[in-house]
Amino acid sequence: MRILVTGASGMLGASFVDALQGEFEVFATAGSDFDENRAQNFKIFDLKQESYDELISWSQPDAVVHCAALTNGNYCEQNPEEAFLVNGFSSKKLLEATGEQTRIIYVSTDAVFPSDTSWVKESDCPKPESVYGKSKELGEFFLLHSSRQVTVLRTTVVGLNINNSRSGFVEWILNSSTQSEQISLFDDVVFTPISIWKFIELTRSIILREIDARILHLVSEDSCTKYQFGIELLKSLGMSHDHIGKGSILTFSKRAKRSTDQTLSSRQTAELLKQRLPEIKEVIQDIKENIELWRK
Ligand SMILES: NC(=O)c1ccc[n+]([C@@H]2O[C@H](COP(=O)([O-])OP(=O)(O)OC[C@H]3O[C@@H](n4cnc5c(N)ncnc54)[C@H](OP(=O)(O)O)[C@@H]3O)[C@@H](O)[C@H]2O)c1
Repeated sequence: MRILVTGASGMLGASFVDALQGEFEVFATAGSDFDENRAQNFKIFDLKQESYDELISWSQPDAVVHCAALTNGNYCEQNPEEAFLVNGFSSKKLLEATGEQTRIIYVSTDAVFPSDTSWVKESDCPKPESVYGKSKELGEFFLLHSSRQVTVLRTTVVGLNINNSRSGFVEWILNSSTQSEQISLFDDVVFTPISIWKFIELTRSIILREIDARILHLVSEDSCTKYQFGIELLKSLGMSHDHIGKGSILTFSKRAKRSTDQTLSSRQTAELLKQRLPEIKEVIQDIKENIELWRK
């Protein structure tokens, strides 16, 4: 099976390529290359382009795992046209450039839901409040209103970047500990994170088992605050957490709007997959197991 992975220089995309390319014929694409790139087939391609024909005739995919996005909420707020083009219209262009037989898997986010919701189900109606959330909902919209085999995977992923020039939430916490830098983590934001490795394992199984669901929530079974997550992560790694303070999202008035309750319910997904989703302690264990590889 030939799989096209977009966003292959990003946290999730690069790990997808790494995990899948022994088993499938993987074609990886991103806006830029990077030193640690392990992709055997790689193409730089700007998803803002009008036509995706060049990308699709190169990769000829049976399935597309669409991870590419502008993920910086503040950048999206300041550049809405670009956000809608990359995060939203890319889905439409992928549909147009591929044939009926190509399955499209779109990685989406809890940010398609507003602040006053909690443990949102797959069947609940999105109502995003930020440009990032709206642009991702647009990406979902094109796919969900097509007659094609598509799956929207809503998630909140945590993990480590293969691309050393990038740093995400987990790396920020780890680096602050090794550098004894004082940081604050929100104690008023609850979320349901899943590790990138578990997310990839479940996506692989969804592709292989041909699970024909339109929307799935791939998240943890339970929730915690961002502060609790940081403390538990550092404790599990035997690292100092003295420098971590409790912060409040309410003090960041200039940020793009983000909800204090970002929890997604994975109950329907677990029933459909006939498999339990991980608990937070397992998510942290996953990071612990992968960290040695990352440090090398
Ligand atoms: N990380 C999270 O917490 C989180 C939570 C929920 C959902 N998600 C979703 O999960 C997916 C992966 O997230 P991530 O954290 O791996 O993102 P990331 O690290 O920010 O990577 C984004 C990727 O998108 C590519 N990209 C951006 N603009 C592009 C363009 N114009 N043309 C081609 N490629 C472009 C980037 O390539 P270049 O930079 O090389 O151009 C990069 O490879 C995204 O769809 C995101 O919405 C992430």
